Amino acid sequence: MLPRGLLVMGAAEPDPALAGLDARFVTSSAQASKKLGSSSAQDAKGRFPAVLVCLPRSKELAQGWIAEALQRTEGEVFVDGEKTSGIESVFKALRKTPELAVGEAISKAHGKFFSVTGSAEALKEWALPEAPHEIAPGFVTVPGIFSADSIDLGSRFLVENLPDLSGEGADLGAGWGYLAANVLKSARAKKLHLVEDDARALDCARLNLTDERAAMVWADALEWKSPRLLDFVVMNPPFHSGRASDPDLGRAFIKAAADALSPSGRLVMVANRHLAYEPKLNELFRTVTQIAVNSHFKVIQAEAPNRSKPLAIKRQRR
Ligand SMILES: C[S@@+](CC[C@H](N)C(=O)[O-])C[C@H]1O[C@@H](n2cnc3c(N)ncnc32)[C@H](O)[C@@H]1O
Repeated sequence: MLPRGLLVMGAAEPDPALAGLDARFVTSSAQASKKLGSSSAQDAKGRFPAVLVCLPRSKELAQGWIAEALQRTEGEVFVDGEKTSGIESVFKALRKTPELAVGEAISKAHGKFFSVTGSAEALKEWALPEAPHEIAPGFVTVPGIFSADSIDLGSRFLVENLPDLSGEGADLGAGWGYLAANVLKSARAKKLHLVEDDARALDCARLNLTDERAAMVWADALEWKSPRLLDFVVMNPPFHSGRASDPDLGRAFIKAAADALSPSGRLVMVANRHLAYEPKLNELFRTVTQIAVNSHFKVIQAEAPNRSKPLAIKRQRR
């Protein structure tokens, strides 16, 4: 039985097992925050009777959260995770730490659940760095966000082949802001909405882009409504749900881009060569052109969204 007043770190959605508990959910995902409702926060200060860590896929982040959880409670820390998130190795590493008491693991279909108690000191090497670190001149990141250790090769290829973009636009899935920073090198870009699900990535983007034309938006790009129809959208869309490849997610981003654009607007995107986005692009845009390709990636420009039906919500045209 989990104690009342529990802190739940990294929950993606309300767990039926937690229903009825006055748990506080901490999540950096805009999508998860919406599902979890008003009891969610990006950060929760203070100490709690117990903490449940829902293991993220990033090893550094998983270790950092467990270390933090031990600091946040004098009670138990519960760890819940899938095999694909490395729960087995986390369990083994904690069991080998003599200062900690680790309970028997309850094995689930694809994962484990167990408790840990002990001093946070024992895991001080797991603690997350206090400040973001610089991975390229002028760009900082934190562990666990997309492309935390280096500039993504797809985004780099897009930047190398970026056409001159003018007016107001958006970067859907803006991450820590590499693509956006390069879009804003053009004085003709008047405003750029950086729409990103991961608040930790967006916090880095805030440090990486101090340009006042950049507007940071913590939101699900598939639900976001641009304040007006846009002149351009750039993106390197995600195509994984968990670890599984999910090109439909990329296609949903293409639809979101088409909906956000003005009738003469254009989308410029990069994708892995093998991803078949062209049928969706041809369905939603009047002109689709591959403007660059290399052995891994293609850059596609799609112009003039092809709206057979009016948008459900009419937005102001500029
Ligand atoms: C391939 S990365 C592109 C990063 C970035 N544009 C760059 O400059 O490298 C895709 C990004 O989309 C974000 N993302 C995934 N699903 C999302 C969603 N539904 N809404 C907004 N962002 C999302 C991920 O967190 C990740 O940062």
